[in-house]
Amino acid sequence: MTALSPVLKQATPITVDHGEGCYLYATDGRRYLDFTAGIGVTSTGHCHPRVVEAARAQVGSLIHGQYTTVMHRPLLALTERLGEVLPDGLDSVFFSNSGSEAIEAALRLARQATGRPNVIVFHGGFHGRTVAAATMTTSGTRFSAGFSPLMAGVHVAPFPTAYRYGWSEEQATDFALRELDYLLTTLSAPAETAAFFVEPVLGEGGYIPGNTRFFEGLRERADAHGILLVFDEIQTGFGRTGKFFGHQHFGVRPDVITIAKGLASGFPLSGIAASRELMAKAWPGSQGGTYGGNAVACAAALATIEVIESEGLVDNAAARGRQLLEGVRARATKAIGDVRGLGLMVGAEFTTATGEPDTETAAAAQRLAVDKGLLLLTCGAYSNVVRMIPPLVVTGDQIEEALGIWSAVLDEL
Ligand SMILES: Cc1ncc(COP(=O)(O)O)c(C=O)c1O
Repeated sequence: MTALSPVLKQATPITVDHGEGCYLYATDGRRYLDFTAGIGVTSTGHCHPRVVEAARAQVGSLIHGQYTTVMHRPLLALTERLGEVLPDGLDSVFFSNSGSEAIEAALRLARQATGRPNVIVFHGGFHGRTVAAATMTTSGTRFSAGFSPLMAGVHVAPFPTAYRYGWSEEQATDFALRELDYLLTTLSAPAETAAFFVEPVLGEGGYIPGNTRFFEGLRERADAHGILLVFDEIQTGFGRTGKFFGHQHFGVRPDVITIAKGLASGFPLSGIAASRELMAKAWPGSQGGTYGGNAVACAAALATIEVIESEGLVDNAAARGRQLLEGVRARATKAIGDVRGLGLMVGAEFTTATGEPDTETAAAAQRLAVDKGLLLLTCGAYSNVVRMIPPLVVTGDQIEEALGIWSAVLDEL
């Protein structure tokens, strides 16, 4: 008998039968409130009727129209529709399948467009699992250990992770920008630096929002040296943080954004967006792929954008996010050193009495929550942050339901 490889590590023992809205139903009939949303993917909820209908209709007319061979309507329609939601000036898109592929696409574009070899990433960032994306990932050695040598040309600067340093956000930001300048002076000359890659909110790295002064500092340095600023919006995009894209909280202009996850409600679709002028510097034919811009995924993405807009999901993410953050803060016990987040990305960091990362208690909290019917995940370098990522369709009552379970979990720990 064949078995699933143990390289897959399961966060829960559940086998799912079906999903609906914010709930997953297991094969044993048990219902779970899903505050993982497929790691920030099923933003419109599981099997939103309009997404299901769009995908069903598309399956009946064209499943795969390979996009370097032929064009198809959903691909062209989605390209046009994205123009209404993408940040100003990013008017050219390239599609791929996974977040990691989008990161690779942005990396290739940055290197080809600038003719420069290096990129700078920020400590604690997660950009994916392919070798290039894993090299750029610094949220834990578990994503890159055991298959070195990794890719050359990646340098790491600090992210303003104030809580970890034990500093104020101001101090952490001063430090991060000073170290970035030091890096540009000692390790990667500006003339050899193609791009900065940064998440608006560190996701896998512990649900840590960046801040305006930090991102403005990146923009200034990018402008001064002709370096591209790439915002990795794979987890923060499509309304997740309470704005359409996470970087919009900080008013800083990106040169490139990477998109995936919430874009297509669970169908594998990702991409990059940049200005036409920048995209024209990529070498034609240097990017592509068999499945990129799949017709069913594009149809689902079109329906997803319609749902996000017509149901006011960006505003809902902002309001429900505030409710969740305040609720988790109000319930924080001594076991929790920090509660933070932006929109519907909320993290509770477990620490010991002496302030050390408390991986075991975070794992116990996540397991207990699952036992009690609430699906959660952990994140952070030490996996000691419990993160809550409900679908953007979550209601106030469902947030209260989750907070009730969370309280019971904390009582029982
Ligand atoms: C910010 C960010 N970038 C990149 C990725 C990689 O995406 P994928 O797992 O689809 O390759 C993820 C996935 O969690 C992510 O959160």
